[in-house]
Amino acid sequence: MSLVKYEKRDGVGLVLVDNPPVNAFSVGVPRGIMESLAAAAADPDVSAVVVAGSGRTFIAGADIKRLGAWPEGEPNLRDAIEVCEASEKPVVAAIHGHALGGGLELAMACHYRVSTADARLGQPEVKIGVPPGAGGTQRLPRLVGAAKALEMILSGAPISGAQAAGVGLVDRAVERDLVDKAVAFAAERAASGGPHPRVRDREVRVDDPGIFDAMRKQIERRARGMRAPYACIECVEAAVQLPFDEGIAREYEIFDAQVRSPEAAALRHLFFAERQIARVPGIGKDIVTRDIREGAVIGAGTMGSGIAMNFANAGIPVKLFDLGGEQLDRAMAAIERNYASTVSKGRLSEAAMRERLERITPVLELEAVASADFVIEAVFEEMALKLDTFARLDAICKPEAIIASNTSYLDVNRIAAATGRASQVLGTHFFSPANVMRLLEVVRTDSVSDEVLATTLGVGRRMGKVPVVSGVCHGFIGNRMLEGYLREAAFLVEEGALPQDVDRVLTDFGFPMGPFAVSDLAGLDIGWRSRRDHHAAEDERRYSGTIGDRLCERGCFGQKTGSGYYRYEAGSRAPIPSPEVEALIKEVSAELGIERRAIDDEEILSRCIYPVVNEGAKVLDEGIALRAGDIDIVWLNGYGFPAHRGGPMHYADHVGIASIYRRVCDYHERHGAWWQPAPLLERMAREGTTFAERDA
Ligand code: NAI
Repeated sequence: MSLVKYEKRDGVGLVLVDNPPVNAFSVGVPRGIMESLAAAAADPDVSAVVVAGSGRTFIAGADIKRLGAWPEGEPNLRDAIEVCEASEKPVVAAIHGHALGGGLELAMACHYRVSTADARLGQPEVKIGVPPGAGGTQRLPRLVGAAKALEMILSGAPISGAQAAGVGLVDRAVERDLVDKAVAFAAERAASGGPHPRVRDREVRVDDPGIFDAMRKQIERRARGMRAPYACIECVEAAVQLPFDEGIAREYEIFDAQVRSPEAAALRHLFFAERQIARVPGIGKDIVTRDIREGAVIGAGTMGSGIAMNFANAGIPVKLFDLGGEQLDRAMAAIERNYASTVSKGRLSEAAMRERLERITPVLELEAVASADFVIEAVFEEMALKLDTFARLDAICKPEAIIASNTSYLDVNRIAAATGRASQVLGTHFFSPANVMRLLEVVRTDSVSDEVLATTLGVGRRMGKVPVVSGVCHGFIGNRMLEGYLREAAFLVEEGALPQDVDRVLTDFGFPMGPFAVSDLAGLDIGWRSRRDHHAAEDERRYSGTIGDRLCERGCFGQKTGSGYYRYEAGSRAPIPSPEVEALIKEVSAELGIERRAIDDEEILSRCIYPVVNEGAKVLDEGIALRAGDIDIVWLNGYGFPAHRGGPMHYADHVGIASIYRRVCDYHERHGAWWQPAPLLERMAREGTTFAERDA
């Protein structure tokens, strides 16, 4: 089957890329384009060429699996682009749907571009850890100027065909009859005789020569540990400083090195992992999901208010219930403040804010939620309260309503059993702040039906979340794995490190914040109170964190009290290491009979990350997570795991399973039962397999 079709229309050669679903540049597509162009060149009856995509889009990008792994001797995108640009007959790109990555690069190598007004054009390569690598960084600035090119390439965000016409990326935007109009335009350009403009011959417009350094500064925070954004800037800079041929050689060189980097491998992995999460056993394409027209949230606290916003943002009217008017007033005020801040940043219109606010109705009668199709409970984290709440909801809600719990740790099977509709009860574990964080763990109880699970995943997606299915266990995928991370951070401080040492190593690794700064932000008192109040069997296997308790006893709850593991100046969130905390830490070490020692960065990193990997292997082995990739998506979107490391399981593959296993065994010997090696890790180390292979 040919991936590229060629036909003639009114004396114009029409090259149609036909590689569904998105006409990606698979092996064979560049060759097909080159053959079609050759046929057009050789045909005296053809005066011009139009390149278009068949089906619903132009060319949506490269075949990401093939990036950096193209078969030897097979023509590639760069070859097709050269032939296209060298064509003596004018070539017009006719763009509808998406022209992304290599698709846009090919279009820019054509002499002219015609686009539908609603098409999307962009260079999203940075998201998979590479700069555009087929001339995109050289041609885009020649068309739209250096500043706009940098903005597009660094954000990876596409612009519309109409916008593209405005900035000079396309010659004209049309509403309909794209291919016919492109053919007519091509014939007209051919008749005009030429010469036909080549993008490579244009000058790059640079309004501000300082823009490159300014950009490097601007992305510093966002690009922490990543090389790709800097590589993009370097390439565009080359477009400005060098003649075209040298500039493009520089781009190729930078791309070819970057595409083989661990960073690019990690981001490619996450790209595919995010697409895999929707593949869930029991949920096929034919599954019928329920219509969700009205939502309800029980408990208008920190989480409940954010979850109500999620419903409103998804266009679903929602009732927000709490026990007292005061709680509801506080919640509605917080929600308004939140939307208003988005409006002030220009990311939401005033009208949209009103619309969303109108969708949220605070209610004081539980009976008011009787009409809801989807109810999410977010009351205090206490089993007895949850059981009682679910029994009452079961009695009030309509029979087909789905009832979900936002519990962080509790057994959702038990909660489901408190109702007479266990097949319609499951967990929806949002992350704080619930309206911002993309992760949603959907906890699949033993009795929940596939239909209800699929409906819940759909609701999560409508809310703009990344819903990952988790089995039932203490803490589900993410929080269960987090325990070892926090525990070891606390131990390291008792043994000789300081909070700022541990935090520095983890931010250098790529986390936006270290564990102690995060604890200060979240508030140390929450864990302390729950340890104090529920000093019960369930908590015994968890480390209690002596230093954290000591700080709380002194009223140091973190940022909100101006001191915790760090101190904070009034109105500032910047953590400042504190001599008093250091003294307290030394006191605790002495009390525990620990002789403090120097701990190097490598130990800090492995002590914090390897328990995450080890627990992840258990989570996987027990079937709590469906795939190692799902765990990586959880850690990326819920815990700030650095994207360029690909998530804890991908990182483990990168380091080597056998070497991690050896270290876990070593720590097990030295530190005891916390470090019980996961049987799966042992097996994988012995067999020499990887998590990626296990997922495949
Ligand atoms: P919160 O203390 O901010 O809010 C709880 C709200 O529930 C309060 O407004 C309270 O008045 C209300 N409430 C208590 N009993 C009620 C009842 N019988 N009926 C109706 N409302 C009642 O707590 P938060 O932080 O929002 O947590 C709620 C749930 O979400 C807990 O299960 C928690 O484990 C979970 N969660 C919390 C996260 C966080 O970071 N805070 C993250 C993920 C889950």
